[in-house]
Amino acid sequence: MNQQFEKINSLNGEIFLAGDKSISHRAVMFASMAKGESIIYNCSESEDVYSTIKCFKELGCEFELNNNTIKIIGKGFKNFNKPQNFLDAGNSGTTTRLISGILAAQNFESTIVGDDSLSKRPMKRIVEPLRLMGANIEPSEHGTLPLKIFPSFNLKPIEYTLKVASAQVKSALLLLALHLEEESVIIDPFNTRNHTEKMLNLKVEETSEGNKIFCSKKNYPKSFEINVPSDISSAAFFIVAALITKNSEILIRNISINPTRIGVIKILKEMGGDIEILNQKEECGEEVGDILVKSSRLKNIEIPKEIIPNIIDEIPILSVAGIFAEGDFIIKNAEELRVKESDRIKSLCENFKKVGLEVIENSDGFILSGELKNNYAEFDSYGDHRIAMTFAILSSMLGKGGVVNGFDCVKISNPKFMEQLKSLHF
Ligand code: S3P
Repeated sequence: MNQQFEKINSLNGEIFLAGDKSISHRAVMFASMAKGESIIYNCSESEDVYSTIKCFKELGCEFELNNNTIKIIGKGFKNFNKPQNFLDAGNSGTTTRLISGILAAQNFESTIVGDDSLSKRPMKRIVEPLRLMGANIEPSEHGTLPLKIFPSFNLKPIEYTLKVASAQVKSALLLLALHLEEESVIIDPFNTRNHTEKMLNLKVEETSEGNKIFCSKKNYPKSFEINVPSDISSAAFFIVAALITKNSEILIRNISINPTRIGVIKILKEMGGDIEILNQKEECGEEVGDILVKSSRLKNIEIPKEIIPNIIDEIPILSVAGIFAEGDFIIKNAEELRVKESDRIKSLCENFKKVGLEVIENSDGFILSGELKNNYAEFDSYGDHRIAMTFAILSSMLGKGGVVNGFDCVKISNPKFMEQLKSLHF
Protein backbone atom coordinates (compact mmCIF):
# COMPACT_ATOMS: atom_id res chain seq x y z
CA MET A 1 0.00 0.00 0.00
CA ASN A 2 1.31 3.46 -0.94
CA GLN A 3 0.54 6.03 1.72
CA GLN A 4 0.24 9.72 0.91
CA PHE A 5 1.23 12.39 3.46
CA GLU A 6 0.45 16.09 3.43
CA LYS A 7 2.57 18.76 5.03
CA ILE A 8 2.02 19.05 8.79
CA ASN A 9 2.50 22.56 10.17
CA SER A 10 2.38 21.74 13.86
CA LEU A 11 1.55 18.90 16.26
CA ASN A 12 -0.46 19.41 19.43
CA GLY A 13 -2.23 17.22 21.96
CA GLU A 14 -1.81 14.05 23.95
CA ILE A 15 -1.38 10.43 22.89
CA PHE A 16 -1.23 7.09 24.63
CA LEU A 17 0.68 4.36 22.82
CA ALA A 18 0.45 0.58 23.18
CA GLY A 19 2.92 -1.37 25.28
CA ASP A 20 6.62 -1.63 24.58
CA LYS A 21 7.39 -4.34 22.01
CA SER A 22 10.53 -5.70 23.71
CA ILE A 23 8.83 -5.96 27.10
CA SER A 24 5.66 -7.48 25.58
CA HIS A 25 7.62 -10.22 23.74
CA ARG A 26 9.29 -11.17 27.00
CA ALA A 27 6.03 -10.99 28.98
CA VAL A 28 4.36 -13.41 26.51
CA MET A 29 7.36 -15.75 26.64
CA PHE A 30 7.73 -15.77 30.42
CA ALA A 31 3.98 -16.20 30.94
CA SER A 32 4.03 -19.14 28.51
CA MET A 33 6.95 -20.73 30.34
CA ALA A 34 5.36 -20.25 33.80
CA LYS A 35 2.77 -22.71 35.05
CA GLY A 36 -0.79 -21.39 35.20
CA GLU A 37 -2.46 -18.07 34.52
CA SER A 38 -0.66 -14.78 33.89
CA ILE A 39 -2.16 -11.48 32.73
CA ILE A 40 -0.52 -8.87 30.52
CA TYR A 41 -2.13 -5.39 30.46
CA ASN A 42 -1.35 -2.85 27.70
CA CYS A 43 0.40 -5.49 25.61
CA SER A 44 1.99 -4.31 22.35
CA GLU A 45 -0.41 -4.47 19.39
CA SER A 46 2.43 -5.21 17.03
CA GLU A 47 2.41 -7.99 14.47
CA ASP A 48 5.79 -9.05 15.90
CA VAL A 49 4.32 -9.79 19.32
CA TYR A 50 1.47 -11.71 17.62
CA SER A 51 4.18 -13.82 16.00
CA THR A 52 5.45 -14.69 19.48
CA ILE A 53 1.90 -15.50 20.62
CA LYS A 54 1.35 -17.76 17.59
CA CYS A 55 4.53 -19.71 18.36
CA PHE A 56 3.48 -20.34 21.96
CA LYS A 57 -0.02 -21.39 20.87
CA GLU A 58 1.67 -23.98 18.69
CA LEU A 59 3.59 -25.08 21.81
CA GLY A 60 0.32 -25.67 23.68
CA CYS A 61 -0.22 -22.43 25.65
CA GLU A 62 -3.69 -20.89 25.83
CA PHE A 63 -4.36 -17.23 25.10
CA GLU A 64 -7.42 -15.06 25.70
CA LEU A 65 -7.10 -11.67 23.99
CA ASN A 66 -9.31 -8.76 24.98
CA ASN A 67 -8.09 -5.52 23.41
CA ASN A 68 -4.63 -5.06 24.87
CA THR A 69 -5.20 -7.38 27.83
CA ILE A 70 -3.98 -10.91 27.35
CA LYS A 71 -4.64 -13.83 29.67
CA ILE A 72 -2.17 -16.67 29.20
CA ILE A 73 -2.24 -20.19 30.56
CA GLY A 74 1.40 -21.23 30.60
CA LYS A 75 2.71 -24.80 30.48
CA GLY A 76 5.37 -24.86 33.23
CA PHE A 77 8.95 -26.14 33.25
CA LYS A 78 9.83 -28.20 30.12
CA ASN A 79 6.18 -29.01 29.60
CA PHE A 80 5.49 -27.48 26.17
CA ASN A 81 3.70 -29.62 23.57
CA LYS A 82 5.74 -30.82 20.64
CA PRO A 83 4.77 -28.47 17.77
CA GLN A 84 2.85 -30.05 14.88
CA ASN A 85 3.93 -27.29 12.47
CA PHE A 86 6.95 -25.10 11.87
CA LEU A 87 7.10 -22.20 14.32
CA ASP A 88 6.56 -19.09 12.21
CA ALA A 89 8.32 -16.02 13.64
CA GLY A 90 7.09 -13.80 10.77
CA ASN A 91 9.26 -10.67 10.59
CA SER A 92 10.42 -10.86 14.19
CA GLY A 93 14.09 -11.24 15.09
CA THR A 94 13.26 -11.02 18.80
CA THR A 95 10.80 -13.94 18.56
CA THR A 96 13.32 -16.09 16.68
CA ARG A 97 16.37 -15.44 18.77
CA LEU A 98 14.76 -15.52 22.20
CA ILE A 99 12.58 -18.56 21.55
CA SER A 100 15.66 -20.48 20.31
CA GLY A 101 17.07 -20.42 23.83
CA ILE A 102 13.83 -21.87 25.20
CA LEU A 103 13.48 -24.52 22.49
CA ALA A 104 17.09 -25.67 22.91
CA ALA A 105 16.10 -26.97 26.37
CA GLN A 106 13.03 -28.97 25.28
CA ASN A 107 12.80 -32.71 24.67
CA PHE A 108 11.39 -32.39 21.16
CA GLU A 109 12.48 -31.27 17.74
CA SER A 110 11.28 -27.92 16.36
CA THR A 111 11.93 -25.70 13.36
CA ILE A 112 11.70 -21.90 13.26
CA VAL A 113 10.86 -20.22 9.95
CA GLY A 114 10.11 -16.60 9.03
CA ASP A 115 9.33 -14.18 6.20
CA ASP A 116 11.79 -13.15 3.47
CA SER A 117 13.41 -10.40 5.52
CA LEU A 118 13.85 -12.55 8.65
CA SER A 119 15.14 -15.43 6.53
CA LYS A 120 18.10 -13.27 5.48
CA ARG A 121 19.09 -12.19 8.98
CA PRO A 122 22.14 -13.70 10.72
CA MET A 123 21.51 -16.51 13.21
CA LYS A 124 25.11 -17.68 13.79
CA ARG A 125 25.34 -15.06 16.53
CA ILE A 126 22.97 -17.21 18.63
CA VAL A 127 23.86 -20.63 17.18
CA GLU A 128 27.54 -20.41 18.17
CA PRO A 129 27.11 -19.49 21.86
CA LEU A 130 24.05 -21.75 22.28
CA ARG A 131 26.20 -24.62 20.97
CA LEU A 132 28.83 -23.78 23.60
CA MET A 133 26.06 -24.55 26.11
CA GLY A 134 25.53 -27.94 24.43
CA ALA A 135 22.49 -26.96 22.34
CA ASN A 136 21.77 -29.05 19.28
CA ILE A 137 20.84 -26.33 16.83
CA GLU A 138 21.25 -26.17 13.05
CA PRO A 139 20.76 -23.08 10.87
CA SER A 140 20.68 -23.18 7.04
CA GLU A 141 24.01 -23.42 5.21
CA HIS A 142 24.00 -19.60 5.08
CA GLY A 143 23.70 -19.32 8.87
CA THR A 144 20.08 -18.17 8.60
CA LEU A 145 16.56 -19.56 9.01
CA PRO A 146 15.18 -22.18 8.92
CA LEU A 147 16.62 -23.02 12.29
CA LYS A 148 16.25 -26.65 13.38
CA ILE A 149 16.49 -27.32 17.08
CA PHE A 150 16.91 -30.89 18.38
CA PRO A 151 16.84 -32.21 21.94
CA SER A 152 20.20 -32.21 23.67
CA PHE A 153 21.28 -34.42 26.58
CA ASN A 154 24.41 -32.56 27.52
CA LEU A 155 23.38 -29.00 28.20
CA LYS A 156 25.79 -27.13 30.43
CA PRO A 157 26.09 -23.66 31.94
CA ILE A 158 28.35 -21.08 30.36
CA GLU A 159 30.47 -18.09 31.24
CA TYR A 160 30.33 -15.97 28.09
CA THR A 161 31.11 -12.42 27.03
CA LEU A 162 28.87 -11.08 24.24
CA LYS A 163 30.69 -10.62 20.92
CA VAL A 164 27.96 -8.50 19.33
CA ALA A 165 25.98 -5.70 20.97
CA SER A 166 22.73 -7.64 20.97
CA ALA A 167 20.11 -7.98 23.69
CA GLN A 168 18.57 -10.76 21.61
CA VAL A 169 21.75 -12.86 21.80
CA LYS A 170 22.12 -12.11 25.52
CA SER A 171 18.51 -13.10 26.13
CA ALA A 172 18.71 -16.34 24.11
CA LEU A 173 21.56 -17.49 26.35
CA LEU A 174 19.81 -16.42 29.54
CA LEU A 175 16.62 -18.24 28.52
CA LEU A 176 18.50 -21.48 27.99
CA ALA A 177 20.35 -20.89 31.28
CA LEU A 178 16.95 -20.81 33.06
CA HIS A 179 16.66 -24.55 32.35
CA LEU A 180 19.93 -25.52 34.06
CA GLU A 181 20.58 -26.21 37.77
CA GLU A 182 24.08 -24.66 37.72
CA GLU A 183 24.53 -20.95 37.26
CA SER A 184 25.54 -19.36 33.95
CA VAL A 185 27.25 -15.99 33.76
CA ILE A 186 26.72 -13.76 30.74
CA ILE A 187 28.82 -10.62 30.45
CA ASP A 188 27.40 -7.71 28.46
CA PRO A 189 30.10 -5.09 27.75
CA PHE A 190 27.69 -3.06 25.59
CA ASN A 191 24.94 -2.21 28.11
CA THR A 192 22.23 -3.47 25.73
CA ARG A 193 18.57 -3.29 26.75
CA ASN A 194 18.12 -5.12 30.06
CA HIS A 195 14.44 -6.12 30.09
CA THR A 196 15.20 -9.86 30.35
CA GLU A 197 17.35 -9.33 33.44
CA LYS A 198 14.83 -6.98 35.05
CA MET A 199 11.74 -9.04 34.37
CA LEU A 200 13.38 -12.25 35.64
CA ASN A 201 14.90 -10.42 38.57
CA LEU A 202 18.40 -11.68 37.77
CA LYS A 203 21.46 -10.75 39.81
CA VAL A 204 23.58 -8.25 37.85
CA GLU A 205 27.02 -6.99 38.88
CA GLU A 206 28.56 -3.97 37.20
CA THR A 207 32.22 -4.76 36.54
CA SER A 208 35.03 -3.27 34.46
CA GLU A 209 34.36 -5.99 31.83
CA GLY A 210 30.68 -5.07 31.59
CA ASN A 211 27.46 -6.13 33.28
CA LYS A 212 27.81 -9.65 34.72
CA ILE A 213 24.45 -11.41 34.70
CA PHE A 214 23.84 -14.58 36.74
CA CYS A 215 21.10 -16.99 35.77
CA SER A 216 19.96 -20.54 36.59
CA LYS A 217 16.83 -22.64 37.09
CA LYS A 218 16.07 -20.84 40.34
CA ASN A 219 15.14 -17.79 38.21
CA TYR A 220 12.63 -19.73 36.07
CA PRO A 221 9.50 -17.54 35.79
CA LYS A 222 6.39 -18.03 37.89
CA SER A 223 2.97 -16.75 36.77
CA PHE A 224 2.53 -12.97 37.11
CA GLU A 225 0.56 -9.87 36.15
CA ILE A 226 2.23 -6.98 34.34
CA ASN A 227 1.15 -3.58 33.05
CA VAL A 228 3.47 -2.94 30.11
CA PRO A 229 4.68 0.66 29.84
CA SER A 230 4.21 2.28 26.42
CA ASP A 231 6.80 1.97 23.69
CA ILE A 232 9.59 4.56 23.60
CA SER A 233 10.66 3.39 20.13
CA SER A 234 7.17 4.12 18.75
CA ALA A 235 7.10 7.41 20.68
CA ALA A 236 10.37 8.55 19.08
CA PHE A 237 8.64 9.25 15.73
CA PHE A 238 6.18 11.68 17.34
CA ILE A 239 8.87 13.23 19.55
CA VAL A 240 11.01 14.11 16.52
CA ALA A 241 7.98 15.32 14.55
CA ALA A 242 7.02 17.72 17.37
CA LEU A 243 10.58 19.00 17.77
CA ILE A 244 10.98 19.92 14.10
CA THR A 245 7.59 21.54 13.47
CA LYS A 246 6.82 25.09 14.67
CA ASN A 247 4.32 25.80 17.49
CA SER A 248 4.15 22.16 18.55
CA GLU A 249 3.59 20.76 22.02
CA ILE A 250 2.72 17.12 22.63
CA LEU A 251 2.44 14.87 25.68
CA ILE A 252 3.00 11.13 25.36
CA ARG A 253 1.81 9.26 28.43
CA ASN A 254 3.27 6.41 30.45
CA ILE A 255 6.33 5.68 28.35
CA SER A 256 9.04 3.20 29.32
CA ILE A 257 12.07 5.26 30.32
CA ASN A 258 14.34 2.34 31.11
CA PRO A 259 17.88 3.85 31.04
CA THR A 260 19.01 1.34 28.37
CA ARG A 261 16.26 2.65 26.06
CA ILE A 262 16.25 6.43 26.41
CA GLY A 263 19.42 7.13 24.46
CA VAL A 264 17.23 8.86 21.88
CA ILE A 265 15.92 11.34 24.48
CA LYS A 266 19.44 11.99 25.74
CA ILE A 267 20.76 12.71 22.23
CA LEU A 268 17.78 14.89 21.25
CA LYS A 269 18.12 16.91 24.47
CA GLU A 270 21.83 17.42 23.80
CA MET A 271 20.86 18.59 20.30
CA GLY A 272 18.77 21.29 21.98
CA GLY A 273 15.43 19.49 22.10
CA ASP A 274 12.90 20.80 24.64
CA ILE A 275 11.89 17.47 26.17
CA GLU A 276 10.76 16.94 29.74
CA ILE A 277 9.98 13.70 31.53
CA LEU A 278 7.09 14.19 33.96
CA ASN A 279 5.41 11.97 36.58
CA GLN A 280 8.36 9.65 36.75
CA LYS A 281 7.61 6.43 38.67
CA GLU A 282 8.33 2.71 38.74
CA GLU A 283 5.75 0.22 37.53
CA CYS A 284 6.23 -3.55 37.44
CA GLY A 285 9.98 -3.06 37.85
CA GLU A 286 10.38 -0.67 34.90
CA GLU A 287 10.74 3.12 35.03
CA VAL A 288 7.91 5.03 33.33
CA GLY A 289 7.12 8.70 32.74
CA ASP A 290 5.12 11.12 30.58
CA ILE A 291 7.14 12.84 27.87
CA LEU A 292 6.42 16.48 27.08
CA VAL A 293 7.94 17.77 23.83
CA LYS A 294 7.98 21.30 22.38
CA SER A 295 9.25 22.68 19.05
CA SER A 296 12.96 23.35 19.23
CA ARG A 297 15.95 24.60 17.28
CA LEU A 298 18.32 21.67 16.99
CA LYS A 299 22.04 21.39 16.29
CA ASN A 300 23.90 18.21 15.48
CA ILE A 301 26.32 16.74 17.99
CA GLU A 302 28.89 13.98 17.94
CA ILE A 303 27.08 10.73 18.75
CA PRO A 304 29.37 8.62 20.97
CA LYS A 305 30.08 4.97 20.13
CA GLU A 306 28.92 3.70 23.56
CA ILE A 307 25.37 4.99 23.08
CA ILE A 308 24.79 3.27 19.71
CA PRO A 309 23.32 0.04 21.23
CA ASN A 310 20.84 2.22 23.18
CA ILE A 311 19.63 4.09 20.08
CA ILE A 312 19.91 1.36 17.50
CA ASP A 313 16.16 1.26 16.70
CA GLU A 314 15.83 5.06 16.78
CA ILE A 315 18.70 5.98 14.44
CA PRO A 316 16.34 6.16 11.42
CA ILE A 317 14.07 8.79 12.99
CA LEU A 318 17.00 10.51 14.73
CA SER A 319 18.48 11.10 11.27
CA VAL A 320 15.34 13.07 10.32
CA ALA A 321 15.93 15.28 13.38
CA GLY A 322 19.54 15.53 12.14
CA ILE A 323 18.63 16.97 8.74
CA PHE A 324 16.54 19.71 10.37
CA ALA A 325 19.41 20.52 12.75
CA GLU A 326 22.37 22.83 12.21
CA GLY A 327 25.47 21.06 10.87
CA ASP A 328 26.01 17.61 9.41
CA PHE A 329 24.37 14.50 10.84
CA ILE A 330 26.96 11.76 11.31
CA ILE A 331 26.39 8.14 12.35
CA LYS A 332 29.33 5.76 12.82
CA ASN A 333 29.96 2.49 14.68
CA ALA A 334 26.48 1.31 13.74
CA GLU A 335 27.20 -1.64 11.41
CA GLU A 336 24.39 -3.54 13.21
CA LEU A 337 21.98 -1.37 11.19
CA ARG A 338 22.90 -3.45 8.14
CA VAL A 339 21.27 -6.59 9.62
CA LYS A 340 17.95 -5.21 10.85
CA GLU A 341 14.54 -5.67 9.15
CA SER A 342 16.24 -4.09 6.12
CA ASP A 343 19.80 -2.91 5.56
CA ARG A 344 18.91 0.34 7.30
CA ILE A 345 22.08 2.19 6.24
CA LYS A 346 21.19 1.56 2.61
CA SER A 347 17.43 2.15 3.08
CA LEU A 348 18.10 5.50 4.76
CA CYS A 349 20.77 6.67 2.31
CA GLU A 350 18.72 5.78 -0.78
CA ASN A 351 15.67 7.59 0.57
CA PHE A 352 17.57 10.68 1.72
CA LYS A 353 19.05 11.05 -1.78
CA LYS A 354 15.49 11.49 -3.07
CA VAL A 355 15.16 14.85 -1.34
CA GLY A 356 18.45 16.12 -2.73
CA LEU A 357 20.58 15.78 0.40
CA GLU A 358 24.27 15.06 0.12
CA VAL A 359 24.64 11.52 1.38
CA ILE A 360 27.82 9.59 2.12
CA GLU A 361 27.27 5.91 2.83
CA ASN A 362 29.90 4.14 4.96
CA SER A 363 30.10 0.52 6.04
CA ASP A 364 29.16 1.42 9.62
CA GLY A 365 27.01 4.51 9.13
CA PHE A 366 26.41 7.56 6.98
CA ILE A 367 26.80 11.34 6.76
CA LEU A 368 23.96 13.68 5.76
CA SER A 369 24.63 17.25 4.73
CA GLY A 370 23.30 19.98 2.47
CA GLU A 371 19.76 21.26 2.12
CA LEU A 372 16.42 19.56 1.39
CA LYS A 373 16.11 20.44 -2.30
CA ASN A 374 12.79 18.83 -3.21
CA ASN A 375 9.42 19.73 -1.72
CA TYR A 376 7.88 16.38 -2.67
CA ALA A 377 9.30 12.85 -2.82
CA GLU A 378 8.29 9.23 -3.16
CA PHE A 379 10.05 7.06 -0.59
CA ASP A 380 10.41 3.31 -0.26
CA SER A 381 9.80 1.47 3.01
CA TYR A 382 11.99 -1.47 1.97
CA GLY A 383 9.37 -3.52 3.85
CA ASP A 384 10.84 -2.16 7.10
CA HIS A 385 8.43 -0.62 9.62
CA ARG A 386 10.89 1.86 11.09
CA ILE A 387 11.96 3.06 7.63
CA ALA A 388 8.27 3.49 6.69
CA MET A 389 7.53 5.63 9.78
CA THR A 390 10.76 7.62 9.39
CA PHE A 391 9.81 8.69 5.88
CA ALA A 392 6.19 9.25 6.88
CA ILE A 393 7.52 11.94 9.21
CA LEU A 394 9.91 13.35 6.60
CA SER A 395 7.08 13.38 4.00
CA SER A 396 4.96 15.36 6.46
CA MET A 397 7.68 18.03 6.62
CA LEU A 398 7.93 18.61 2.85
CA GLY A 399 6.10 21.55 1.29
CA LYS A 400 3.99 19.34 -0.93
CA GLY A 401 4.12 16.21 1.23
CA GLY A 402 5.23 12.80 0.02
CA VAL A 403 4.42 9.15 -0.45
CA VAL A 404 5.79 6.07 1.30
CA ASN A 405 5.51 2.89 -0.76
CA GLY A 406 4.83 -0.41 1.01
CA PHE A 407 3.56 1.43 4.08
CA ASP A 408 1.49 -1.45 5.53
CA CYS A 409 4.65 -2.85 7.17
CA VAL A 410 4.12 -0.29 10.00
CA LYS A 411 1.88 -2.94 11.58
CA ILE A 412 5.08 -4.81 12.51
CA SER A 413 5.49 -2.41 15.45
CA ASN A 414 2.63 0.11 15.44
CA PRO A 415 -0.58 -0.59 13.46
CA LYS A 416 -2.14 2.61 14.89
CA PHE A 417 0.63 4.96 13.67
CA MET A 418 -1.58 6.76 11.12
CA GLU A 419 -4.46 7.46 13.50
CA GLN A 420 -2.06 8.60 16.22
CA LEU A 421 -0.32 10.99 13.83
CA LYS A 422 -3.67 12.34 12.58
CA SER A 423 -4.91 12.87 16.16
CA LEU A 424 -1.99 15.26 16.78
CA HIS A 425 -2.66 17.67 13.91
CA PHE A 426 -5.77 19.14 12.34
C1 S3P B 1 15.51 -6.16 20.81
C2 S3P B 1 16.86 -5.99 20.66
C3 S3P B 1 17.47 -5.23 19.55
C4 S3P B 1 16.45 -4.33 18.86
C5 S3P B 1 15.17 -5.06 18.58
C6 S3P B 1 14.55 -5.56 19.87
C7 S3P B 1 15.02 -6.95 21.95
O1 S3P B 1 17.99 -6.12 18.60
O2 S3P B 1 17.00 -3.82 17.67
O3 S3P B 1 14.27 -4.20 17.92
O4 S3P B 1 13.81 -6.88 22.25
O5 S3P B 1 15.84 -7.62 22.58
P1 S3P B 1 19.47 -6.72 18.72
O6 S3P B 1 19.55 -7.57 19.90
O7 S3P B 1 19.70 -7.49 17.45
O8 S3P B 1 20.36 -5.50 18.80
